[in-house]
Amino acid sequence: MLIDRPLIDPSGVVADRGIRKVAGPIPAMASPTGHNVTIVCLLQALCLIPSRFILGPMPDSLKITFATLGSAPSGLAVILAASDLALAKSAAALLAPAKDLLARAAAADGFKGNSGSFLDIVAPEKLAASRLLVAGTGKPAEWKELDVIRLGGAICGRLPDAVTEATIIADTAAGPLSADQAADLALGLRLRFYAFDRYKTKKKDGDEGPKKRSVTILVTDEKAARKAFKSREGIADGVDVARDLVNEPPNVLSPPEFAKRASALERLGVDVEILGEKEMKKLGMGALLAVGQGSRKESQMVVMRWEGGKDGAAPVCLIGKGVCFDTGGISLKPGEGMQDMKGDMGGAAAVVGAMHALAARKAKVNAVGIIGLVENMPDGNAYRPGDILTSMSGQTIEIINTDAEGRLVLADLLWYAKGRFQPKFMVNLATLTGAIMVALGSEHAGLFSNNDDLAQNLTASGLATGERVWRMPLASEYDKLIDSQFADMKNTGGRFGGAITAAQFLQRFVGDTPWAHLDVAGTAMNSVKNDLNRSWGGGWGVRLLDRLVADACES
Ligand code: BES
Ligand code: MN
Ligand code: ZN
Repeated sequence: MLIDRPLIDPSGVVADRGIRKVAGPIPAMASPTGHNVTIVCLLQALCLIPSRFILGPMPDSLKITFATLGSAPSGLAVILAASDLALAKSAAALLAPAKDLLARAAAADGFKGNSGSFLDIVAPEKLAASRLLVAGTGKPAEWKELDVIRLGGAICGRLPDAVTEATIIADTAAGPLSADQAADLALGLRLRFYAFDRYKTKKKDGDEGPKKRSVTILVTDEKAARKAFKSREGIADGVDVARDLVNEPPNVLSPPEFAKRASALERLGVDVEILGEKEMKKLGMGALLAVGQGSRKESQMVVMRWEGGKDGAAPVCLIGKGVCFDTGGISLKPGEGMQDMKGDMGGAAAVVGAMHALAARKAKVNAVGIIGLVENMPDGNAYRPGDILTSMSGQTIEIINTDAEGRLVLADLLWYAKGRFQPKFMVNLATLTGAIMVALGSEHAGLFSNNDDLAQNLTASGLATGERVWRMPLASEYDKLIDSQFADMKNTGGRFGGAITAAQFLQRFVGDTPWAHLDVAGTAMNSVKNDLNRSWGGGWGVRLLDRLVADACES
């Protein structure tokens, strides 16, 4: 299970305007094989690719394997110590030759085995391991799934850069970790390991070079653990796909390039359709198209279908806002911080990542991902305040502010999804408003829904995965704030309740379909750094959606 992060198309060149279907294999999504790298290196050796086209250092890789408890650890050894420094028998056996080493080191360091604490013993004399890392676990009997995943992340974060080989003894005083727990531990390692450094051409002083790491987890049933990890590995790959998309710069990740990368899902058996401006015009998507009309890059819609469920069963639809860069358009944003608006496609990235996860773990569900990809630019051809647009639904929209563009994109996507797929339910993710960040900060996404069951399921999935949501109100009284004197509605509702009026706007395009809107402006980009994520684009939403589908549709 070697995870190489492949090189991207280094030219960053994307298609011009004009209709185009994407076909064939795509170079740049989480390729678990790393073949691209080999080919690139080979061609480079033959001088077929000038080296300046090779961006960044060699990709990092993390190899996770499972072996049977009792095998001799190689490299750094990680053992788990519970609250009262209680050790598993296997860990005690490993430490036996060094007698009171742990007790002395723990006393010197004040280490008590609390959850989140670590004790690092370098070059432990008389031990087989080159180095010993003791991870505090609190009380293993009280662990929840997320505690184990976080433990894996924390351990990964504590492994020094120079360490290329480590062995985790997945055993506690309360008994060895189950296969699922060992796999959760491995998931935590994978999530934490990610770094987006492909554009860094210089190493920092002291960097040893490429980070290649191999971690072995010792368990009772290695076969069962390996099997349990397989699906989690697909999920971790999906998260990394979303992270890469959010982190990529906007000169590289234009709408056509994003669509091209999404089409790499075909390798996993996902059916991918790409619609260009001509096709969307035919469908009458006047709201989505207006947003992109000031851009040199062609707007795109991507429809991804995974059919792992019963033939003909209504699918779930996952829908994402994919504004590859949001300048605000003619209602131009202030310059400060504008670079962050490369992440305004975080909703679409989460949808692609979730589709990757579902397909990779062969989820027993019919799922459709739909993303709208546009660039919101000021230009002679850009849409303006005062314009009146006709959406695919036929409803007309007066533009008050061209910076309230996400809801225009979603209006057409939601209407399209509802009409074409008649989904069991649909969930959209969008970095929609600054107002949701004022309300909730970055630890919860805003949840708006017309369906209590769906809202409840999303809340539960959020608690299980740590990608938490907080329900916000919808109420018809807010509707008058977006009534327009010239059209059916206007695209902004004033300063107060900005996240709510945006959600009210979306609701006008969903009919009776069970629907939830996640405002992820505070979570999908500039993500919180924690035990499981160190990246600006944290891939928020992938694990939430995967869990929602698993719990609400597959069981
Ligand atoms: N993409 C922004 C929202 C956003 C802001 C996302 C900060 C992430 C971080 C969205 O398109 C936007 O500009 N919204 C406006 C709406 C307003 C004009 C009604 C906003 O929130 O200010
Ligand atoms: Mn905007
Ligand atoms: Zn936006």
